[in-house]
Amino acid sequence: MNPSPPVRPYIPAQRSTADVTASALRHAARRVLLRNWVGNSTVPSRSLYPHQWSWDSAFVAIGLRHVSPERAQRELETLLAAQWGDGRVPHIVFNPAVPLDAYFPSPDFWRSSTAGAAAGAPEGVETSGIVQPPVHALAAWLVHRADPATSRRRGFLRRLYPKLVAWHRYLTTHRDLGGHGLVSVVHPWEPGMDNSPCWDEPLARVEPAPPGSFRRADLDHGSAADRPTDLDYARYVRLAADYRDHDYLDAEAPHRFAVEDPGVNALLIASEHALADIADEIAPEVVPDPVSEARDALCADADAHRRRARELTAALVERLWDAEAGQFLCRDVRSGEPIRERGVAGLLPLIVPGLPRDVVHALLRTVCGEHFGLGGTVRLVPSYDLLGHAFDPRRYWRGPAWFNVNWLVERGLRQHGQTARADALRAAVVTAAAASDFAEYVDPRTGAGYGSREFSWTAALALDLLKTAPAAESAPAAEPAPERAAALAEPRVEARVEARVEARVGAPVGSGEAAR
Ligand code: SER
Repeated sequence: MNPSPPVRPYIPAQRSTADVTASALRHAARRVLLRNWVGNSTVPSRSLYPHQWSWDSAFVAIGLRHVSPERAQRELETLLAAQWGDGRVPHIVFNPAVPLDAYFPSPDFWRSSTAGAAAGAPEGVETSGIVQPPVHALAAWLVHRADPATSRRRGFLRRLYPKLVAWHRYLTTHRDLGGHGLVSVVHPWEPGMDNSPCWDEPLARVEPAPPGSFRRADLDHGSAADRPTDLDYARYVRLAADYRDHDYLDAEAPHRFAVEDPGVNALLIASEHALADIADEIAPEVVPDPVSEARDALCADADAHRRRARELTAALVERLWDAEAGQFLCRDVRSGEPIRERGVAGLLPLIVPGLPRDVVHALLRTVCGEHFGLGGTVRLVPSYDLLGHAFDPRRYWRGPAWFNVNWLVERGLRQHGQTARADALRAAVVTAAAASDFAEYVDPRTGAGYGSREFSWTAALALDLLKTAPAAESAPAAEPAPERAAALAEPRVEARVEARVEARVGAPVGSGEAAR
């Protein structure tokens, strides 16, 4: 444990910064996405994560749209082709060509096509049985916006819309375990922040799987100091096995771990707003309903999505806002109590339109205050309280800065008119991504990279920040694009990255090559 981290200036650790153009960075990021593309989807990492992951694919699609809009559409289509009959979108879709021992828990652990049959798991593909945060509708909308003509020609939104509706319906019905209108996660992998200190207390109630009953594959590819502990893993395995052994039926599973997480619910709200935009786009269309047998068709109804988003927002504030902490806290559904740990998920509601003003102001103070330090002791938002008793700047979700989280915070800051802060964060994300060779996560104080390199969403989201004019696609409250963004989109960024980036990736990737 590290109670009081030393305050140091932010210096990207791996590479000195030298003259490198924005176009070289774009080429490097595109190259990562091309390397990690496996035919119909993208692996998060060639070594550590050799299958398709749900929220990774959503973030990847957001960057991939700048390389090939059609590939970005296929990324999401491939994921949603593995959707279960009850509407859930599994957190992993397994590639049958990858050896079983390349990743644990492997398909023979989850046994989705048999154990998940009652919940409607597909027969032709193996998946996990848990979920990840619902970023997909937001991603689908952004992907559509990149190339509306191709999207319309391929019927992209029309085909995805009913699946996304079914996905949200699964979460808001089967997963409203607390009964107050918010979604609960039932495994620490579901909110995507696996070993956040927020889970320590609810996870402590879970009997670990016996040591020796499984073999971790992640340690073949990463340092044990950067990854969750064996004890955490044993509890992850127990929870997943219990769910599987109850046929993945939420009404029957014991769900010894059940938490309302502000990040998951904020992303659901943002995606519900995106579904409203999608519904407006396909408004005249009546589309098949893949889940409800009572109704064989549904109309795209933007007003209904906006109403649901408002209801979810009210429940989020009511259940998870903590005025004293100045941020949202997770709530342990089993004990009924808030979890008094400052995880970065508690800042993600910044992306939600229509939050009360006092909540927004307090959140903005917290982002830049002593616990998260943005613009002071750090340039990237850490995953956990800098002053927290469990802060560890390199261990997975217990302190390092993650690029998807920072992409979301950038979006939230901009939405609330914090243009200068958003610009600074945008520049810092791009700099840190390139300087760390697109690391999976970095020390928020030094920029030192940890976990995998050439990590897909790091490349995708850096590319997105380099390619998009800020606010061009933000939610309704967004400000007009500021000048600084234009500077970032220019051929030379202020981020200077050692020429090794260019040398390592070889010749620039042309858009023609990237397109197919
Ligand atoms: N992130 C978890 C893992 O390490 C689950 O997806 O495998």
